[in-house]
Amino acid sequence: MKTILEIKNICKSYEDTQILKDINLKVNEGEFLAIMGQSGSGKSTLLYGVSGMDRPTSGDVLFCGEDISKLDDDKMSDMRLKHMGFIFQNPYLLKNLSIRDNIILPGFKAGTMSRELVNQNADTLMERTGISGVADHDIKKVSGGQLQRASICRALINQPDILFGDEPTGALNSSTTNEVMDIINSVNSDGTTVIIVTHDAKVAARAGRVIFLMDGNIHDELSLGKYNKDDKKKSLREKNIYEWLENQGF
Ligand SMILES: Nc1ncnc2c1ncn2[C@@H]1O[C@H](COP(=O)(O)OP(=O)(O)O)[C@@H](O)[C@H]1O
Ligand SMILES: [Mg+2]
Repeated sequence: MKTILEIKNICKSYEDTQILKDINLKVNEGEFLAIMGQSGSGKSTLLYGVSGMDRPTSGDVLFCGEDISKLDDDKMSDMRLKHMGFIFQNPYLLKNLSIRDNIILPGFKAGTMSRELVNQNADTLMERTGISGVADHDIKKVSGGQLQRASICRALINQPDILFGDEPTGALNSSTTNEVMDIINSVNSDGTTVIIVTHDAKVAARAGRVIFLMDGNIHDELSLGKYNKDDKKKSLREKNIYEWLENQGF
């Protein structure tokens, strides 16, 4: 197993409050990791720290063997644009652009593919996520689920090695959550590493491994094995998580 992300002794403080206390974690290429924990436990802080959106106070973040915590801001942005994808609770699409233009924008910005290829990728992604029909729509005229699918397409336009999500289903109803998670699982099946923060046990049950943050550290972790959409024992995964969460006092 090849390590894609290695976090060594990450600490993060705001003023005198230590949020992350010496966290160590290795993530394998192709893994799907979920981060859980109480509200305020530092889940977002950890995700932003490992993805270069924010800098840890101390510690190293090795991405594909390179210490990205030492990169300057421009190099870090470039690395994120070309190798990492991000989705959030809210899609954050630009209001004056169509769905398609929102998706292709980071593709043009990265400049690693021809415009033609970026457009092709966008078409393939929209097809795959079921939003081709609204490609040229104003973003104010489509549903929340469609917007979140578009934000996934945007995150994937540069074919990132890793997809990060901070509560990506937090604003969706349960059936839309399932549809969005089906997409994320299929992206992961194709080899993209996925790390998401969630408070939803059903969402975490889609991951292969779940870590629980408490008191600034990884309190425990649960291995579930790779999710398989045809698995008849899906409810068993959820049951395992619910039991485990209860042990964490969640
Ligand atoms: N920019 C900031 N300045 C000061 N405190 C912050 C900042 N960002 C987060 N925090 C604090 O850090 C703690 C962890 O926040 P966060 O990572 O957002 O938690 P979670 O995502 O688990 O809900 C919280 O107590 C929060 O108030
Ligand atoms: Mg958060």
